[in-house]
Amino acid sequence: MTSHQSISEPTTIAEPPSAGGPVDQKDRVSWWEYGAAYDELCSVNPHYADNVSRFREWCGDAELPPNPVICDIGAGTGNYLLEAARAKPDSQFYHWDWNSVMNDLAAAKYAEAGFKATFASQNISDFPGDIPPVDLAIAVNSLYTFPNSKAVVRRIFDAIKPGGLFFTIDLGRELDTGSWARDLIAYNIKTRGFTETLKLTYRLRHAIKQNRKIDQSQDDGAYWAHTTTEFATTMEWAGFVIERLETCYRDKCDLAVCRKPLSS
Ligand SMILES: C[S@@+](CC[C@H](N)C(=O)[O-])C[C@H]1O[C@@H](n2cnc3c(N)ncnc32)[C@H](O)[C@@H]1O
Repeated sequence: MTSHQSISEPTTIAEPPSAGGPVDQKDRVSWWEYGAAYDELCSVNPHYADNVSRFREWCGDAELPPNPVICDIGAGTGNYLLEAARAKPDSQFYHWDWNSVMNDLAAAKYAEAGFKATFASQNISDFPGDIPPVDLAIAVNSLYTFPNSKAVVRRIFDAIKPGGLFFTIDLGRELDTGSWARDLIAYNIKTRGFTETLKLTYRLRHAIKQNRKIDQSQDDGAYWAHTTTEFATTMEWAGFVIERLETCYRDKCDLAVCRKPLSS
């Protein structure tokens, strides 16, 4: 854990505050186009690896009941559920994501790792569908993309068993694709040389373009932008008790480990 923040002024929010606009997200950021290049881009991005290792370390120590139900919401290419499967192999795994490109890549990884996950290839508006009550919900960099993210947080709360956990990382501040890409290029020139980095940048140009659209969507309010305090307040509004809160990913993301109280 790198840092904690205490929430000094718990806010009572009567109605789900609006977050994420009514715009069809699929038409704005093409998660389909992003899907094919997603893992390669992640594999050359040390900040993505850092997020995954924060989850790996936390999940290894997390206390869950025997045969827990673990659900990753906006699971993408499955990198987090894969870590959960390594740490808690006796679990029942659910992968929720509407993106068939990402889901196919995830299915191949799960098969190679030798574990089974149930896929719900559905829009978040259908969550939790047939998924049984959850012991651990995961949502990494997906909440901000959902229409009405805050209402989704409440639905995740409802889907979790009393005493269960929610691990979430979410992009809250504008990535600033220009400086992010420059950082990434500088890092890769150091680690793999100029020519390889040039080829990589060309191969990943479409994915980099999607990141620019994410910036724009945060800018115009279609995607949820939040401060760490707003993020924490939303978790508390939904009913969670926050056990850990910190920033990560060049301070652009917020990480929270939340628990649903036993009494709820
Ligand atoms: C930035 S990716 C994060 C993937 C994964 N959690 C990770 O960190 O590697 C966001 C994911 O949310 C999914 N997503 C976005 N909007 C969605 C919606 N309305 N319903 C279901 N999934 C959605 C996308 O398909 C994408 O896989």
